[in-house]
Amino acid sequence: MNIHGKKILLGITGGIAAYKACELLRILQKRGAEVRVVMTREAAKFVGETTFAALSNFPVYVETATADSKPFQHIDYPRWADIYIVAPCSATSLARFAIGTGEEPVSLCFLAMQGEKWVVPAMNSVMYKAAAVQRNLETLKSWGVKVIEPACGYLACGEEGMGKFPEPLDIADAIEFSGSKTQTLLISIGRTEEEIDPVRYISNRSSGKTGAAIAREFLRNGWRVIAVCGKMEATLPKQCEIVPVQSAESMNKAVLKMQPQANVIVHCAAVADYSPKTASSQKIKNSKTVKNLELKENPNILKNTIKNKAKNQKIIAFALETENSLKNAQKKLKESNADILIVNTPTSGKGGFNKDTVEFGFLTPKKLNTTLTHNTKEALASTLLELIK
Ligand SMILES: Cc1cc2nc3c(=O)[nH]c(=O)nc-3n(C[C@H](O)[C@H](O)[C@H](O)COP(=O)(O)O)c2cc1C
Repeated sequence: MNIHGKKILLGITGGIAAYKACELLRILQKRGAEVRVVMTREAAKFVGETTFAALSNFPVYVETATADSKPFQHIDYPRWADIYIVAPCSATSLARFAIGTGEEPVSLCFLAMQGEKWVVPAMNSVMYKAAAVQRNLETLKSWGVKVIEPACGYLACGEEGMGKFPEPLDIADAIEFSGSKTQTLLISIGRTEEEIDPVRYISNRSSGKTGAAIAREFLRNGWRVIAVCGKMEATLPKQCEIVPVQSAESMNKAVLKMQPQANVIVHCAAVADYSPKTASSQKIKNSKTVKNLELKENPNILKNTIKNKAKNQKIIAFALETENSLKNAQKKLKESNADILIVNTPTSGKGGFNKDTVEFGFLTPKKLNTTLTHNTKEALASTLLELIK
């Protein structure tokens, strides 16, 4: 679900992880959501309402029926929201939701909320495993409430186990990348490494940032994403199905194996054209023993997928150019028969390797001309998705 432009009501209950809700709020805002906060009285003992009022730039609903509060906040807040996320959700609040009591703002909003509801339970691991907590979670799930399982790890109480509040980034990803996956994107990301000996290899400067932006854009729009990944600095969300590879040969095998599952294939990885004819099993001792590195041609993964292309499958190629960009890109598009070619010039001084922006342009067989624009890798990803749609 794309949370950009969505109205999110964030419910906070009395747990030690309440302070992490501040970061979650900021992440949701950064992803384009408008956030308002509702808290239990207990939660306000952990983090003051002033903090959340300042972060959300809106009054926090924390008291029912005070002389100066608006009388129908318990209806108004949920009615305003598209999504209600209770994070962290205490064992007590879970029980209130499952029973249906509304004795304070968070559970009142839970009763009054008609839209999508999410809970993120967080507590000591013995409490989390307690039969009552598990029963309450099952009850909520059976009503269609979405539950983000807690993480396993070192808990604030000093014990290890299940019950830890997940990283706020993971919570935002779980919400943003939820939804039925009816179409599949197969994408290659990162760079290949071609082994010379156990300590040396041939590679390139690709960071995987463009591929990661594309993967996120498709996930956010309800696609299943299979990512065949070489080495990269960028990180991918857990919702991607990741197939790790090293060399061009192994990337070729993995992409061809996954090809039948894909509606769209994006060749975003920077694949080495050549690799050493033989990789030495031991470290090559000094330069005198190797005067010339003998190379062999690597498989052309783009060409191979075009050969196996299924009806209605779309194949997108990238062309990284440092000179004569448009001419070279047009040639590559014509020779490859790709459906779309994205030309990018990461050495032009406008963004590039491991940066958030790059200079790029889109070519199709019907539109062989393009002017390069300098924009974020996210903008490149959303233009690509629009073109595919
Ligand atoms: C220091 C401290 C930490 C707590 N941490 C948690 C917690 O992580 N999860 C939880 O379910 N309860 C925790 N509790 C207990 C809740 O605060 C308590 O059950 C409270 O009634 C929850 O109320 P609420 O759901 O209305 O916010 C903690 C209590 C204290 C004193």
